[in-house]
Amino acid sequence: MKTELTTLLNIEYPIIQGAMAWVSDGELAASVSNAGGAGTIAAGGRTVDWVREQIQIARKITDKPFGVNIMLMADNRDEIVNLICKEKVAYATLGAGNPVPYFEKLHKATVTVIPVVPNLRIAKKVAYEGADAIVIEGMEAGGHVGNLTTMALMTQVILEVDIPVVVAGGIADGRGLAAALVMGAAGVQMGTRFLASTECNAHWKAKNKIVEASDIDTVLTGFVHKHYVRGIRNKMTDKYLELEKQGASEEALGQLFIGTNKKGVFDGDVEWGSIQAGQSLTVIDKIEPCEVLIGKIIQDAKKALLSIQKYTT
Ligand SMILES: Cc1cc2nc3c(=O)[nH]c(=O)nc-3n(C[C@H](O)[C@H](O)[C@H](O)COP(=O)(O)O)c2cc1C
Repeated sequence: MKTELTTLLNIEYPIIQGAMAWVSDGELAASVSNAGGAGTIAAGGRTVDWVREQIQIARKITDKPFGVNIMLMADNRDEIVNLICKEKVAYATLGAGNPVPYFEKLHKATVTVIPVVPNLRIAKKVAYEGADAIVIEGMEAGGHVGNLTTMALMTQVILEVDIPVVVAGGIADGRGLAAALVMGAAGVQMGTRFLASTECNAHWKAKNKIVEASDIDTVLTGFVHKHYVRGIRNKMTDKYLELEKQGASEEALGQLFIGTNKKGVFDGDVEWGSIQAGQSLTVIDKIEPCEVLIGKIIQDAKKALLSIQKYTT
């Protein structure tokens, strides 16, 4: 399935596995890339040494392109950028901060630059500054989100920028990929779907939570400080929302939230840890190998695209 994204990244299918902090490591990224998509190692919350090791692990498993995500809020972002440039990773996705200052350095090292953006203004800005593609991420997504939906972003961004647009947020199957392509996107980025994959090294309890959860099981936290995070509702999010309602200080909320990502998806504390996840959970009903997942997604996308041809006559 050829699109502007498959050409840009030299991959077979227009699917990026979204970076997931404490979840997406070298093994997951390489498995997605071996299956024809583009796998992404998440550097958020990790040391430079860990990221270097994961790049090496990925290179042992695959000779296909994969990327690294730079969490721009992280204190070690400059070192991570240096590492990506030194290792000449195929692409970098950049989120949660201003990616523009890093474009020149990444481009000089021949790294393809793909910022993750939450609205049209930022999409236009990064396209103007030289991004190679963008991910528009709707608030249906798991993790840190903006406040526009995936549909609103697709409707308003895709026609306004002249670089490939990848759509993220609530896309979990082939129909979602087909819908994004029909809207004019060059591909999709999926996170939660790959959390429930065989090669994902997240704690089995976290993976099971994703499989068991359905459409109404996620909540957004972070209203007070406007750092919205979507995850599975549990004791931690209930407590967080209660504290927010009571007008708790940033410090008190931070104390409750800090370290919960590792605690949830890595250590397996699914009640007091954070299990970040998108809203399209009902269709994620089993843990499968990336090759099977991607095969099904492509097959279903083709089926969906064929089924709408009847509307053109
Ligand atoms: C557990 C989890 C952790 C995430 N961590 C990151 C991250 O570190 N950096 C980032 O840019 N996006 C992160 N995301 C967002 C994903 O890369 C992706 O854009 C999102 O999952 C897409 O929506 P979906 O979950 O509905 O597929 C995370 C998502 C999840 C589910």
